[in-house]
Amino acid sequence: MHQSNHLHTLTMNDYSPLLEVLRQIVGSDNVINQGDLSAWERDWRKRQHGKALAVVRPANTEEVAAVVRACVAAQVSIVPQGGNTGMVLGSIPDDSGTQIVLSLQRMNRVRAIDTANLTITLDAGCVLQSVQEFCKGASYLFPLRMASEGSCTIGGNLSTNAGGTQVVRYGNARELCLGLEVVTPQGAIWDGLTGLRKDNTGYDLRHLIIGSEGTLGVITAAVMKLYPLPRAQLTAFAAVPSLEAAVDLLVLAHEELDGGLSGFEIMGHFALSLVGRHFPHLRLPLQESKTPYNVLIEYSSLETETKATERFESFMPLAMELGYVNDAIVAKNSTEARQLWHIRESIPLAQAQEGLNIKHDIALAASRIAAFVQQTDALLAQAYPGVRLVNYGHLGDGNLHYNVQAPENCDAAAFLQENESAVHALVYAQVVRHQGSISAEHGIGTLKRDVLVQYKSPQALAMMRAIKHALDPLNTMNPGRVIRMDK
Ligand code: FAD
Ligand code: MLT
Ligand code: ZN
Repeated sequence: MHQSNHLHTLTMNDYSPLLEVLRQIVGSDNVINQGDLSAWERDWRKRQHGKALAVVRPANTEEVAAVVRACVAAQVSIVPQGGNTGMVLGSIPDDSGTQIVLSLQRMNRVRAIDTANLTITLDAGCVLQSVQEFCKGASYLFPLRMASEGSCTIGGNLSTNAGGTQVVRYGNARELCLGLEVVTPQGAIWDGLTGLRKDNTGYDLRHLIIGSEGTLGVITAAVMKLYPLPRAQLTAFAAVPSLEAAVDLLVLAHEELDGGLSGFEIMGHFALSLVGRHFPHLRLPLQESKTPYNVLIEYSSLETETKATERFESFMPLAMELGYVNDAIVAKNSTEARQLWHIRESIPLAQAQEGLNIKHDIALAASRIAAFVQQTDALLAQAYPGVRLVNYGHLGDGNLHYNVQAPENCDAAAFLQENESAVHALVYAQVVRHQGSISAEHGIGTLKRDVLVQYKSPQALAMMRAIKHALDPLNTMNPGRVIRMDK
């Protein structure tokens, strides 16, 4: 595979027989090796641009399996790809021009819906938003939700064990999945498309594949859970005096909202101000209060609209009375609720417009978050005067996007070049100190691969390598992502 050096000595022409076989499997229109391939070769944050031998777009599971077998025979490695919205450089090829990008884009059918079992069986290339809309049309909720939903795919969501904004109620992609169909690194098909909620028949292969970022096989289909559509949904934007107060508010929401808390997002003042700066048409609520943090709270209920409104309307004044909230607005209808969510979802884009930044996707116990932020803000301000902190995320499940933006009027590229590794080291040392995780929901890819070895125990790394070696001894599937096998 790419990491075994003898392959580098092959010339482009040596790949012609493989490309010909691939064309026979998927049709010539679906083996793309000419023209502008940047949609598949460049990551969403535009931090890296790889070079693919070809982009191959199979139409069904048998074609995926045949493509994998052809690549194994030719000793060519494979980068599975869904919507290419991943944040950790796991879905693009390296720059060698020797890797196949296996795009699941054409595999986008709903295979079946089982309303008695509350499950839906989906091709891996289904785009998340189209699945949400399909389920809503059938009067069910598909609860995975994130700002990239217009492009990301079910296969990508499962391969990264994606989180998003409703994890606090429904869990992440792993918790929503009951069965998988997977093409193995040898090109065999594992049919694990069960919709069972109990199945203790040995090692759970589904959970091994979920979150493996394309390194253990290609997910071709999945059985996912459905939920009843909420009858009522209430959304509030609240100014909170501190992070401690936000955590108190979270506990109160769990206690008072009858298990119906479905979203609890935190937005630091500077993160929101970037939305105001780069998207001035979006009206930011409550900005005059200059509060350090705002939260977006969503309550979803199966009760009637009247009952749910009554419950929410007694919760918000209670939160104010207890001093957890300074000021709040409640959306009057679903359009206003969407506008509030749109503000939150615009933070990553606003931050990208502001310039290069250093991202951290960290998980902490809710009880540790306030202390972590207070100490880490201070350490960063001391080490990098003027540095700006874009702090926001899914507070409901202890996941902060604790990002570091270069000081204003400073050359961001130069700042990153000089300080990125040291900033990571400072932040991750704090994460360890507070017993957190250096990757909450985005995964490892290549971006955090070499950092992972510093923070994961040698025993855990040895077990991960043993699994990878057992399932993919030739290192065909997404080599060099998550964990190196050549070191
Ligand atoms: P890709 O980017 O194509 O791939 C991601 C990884 O999965 C790669 O390692 C790839 O090799 C592998 N892979 C893809 N498909 C398959 C398959 N079928 N079989 C095996 N391996 C596969 N993530 C969150 O968790 N929560 C968020 O709230 C969130 N918000 C985002 C907002 C924005 C604006 C953006 C750009 C991204 C966001 N992300 C978020 C990150 C990203 O959208 C998720 O990681 C998503 O799950 C990736 O899906 P994808 O189809 O784009 O996968
Ligand atoms: C989000 O929650 O908005 C995302 O995970 C995206 C990001 O962190 O950039
Ligand atoms: Zn996120």
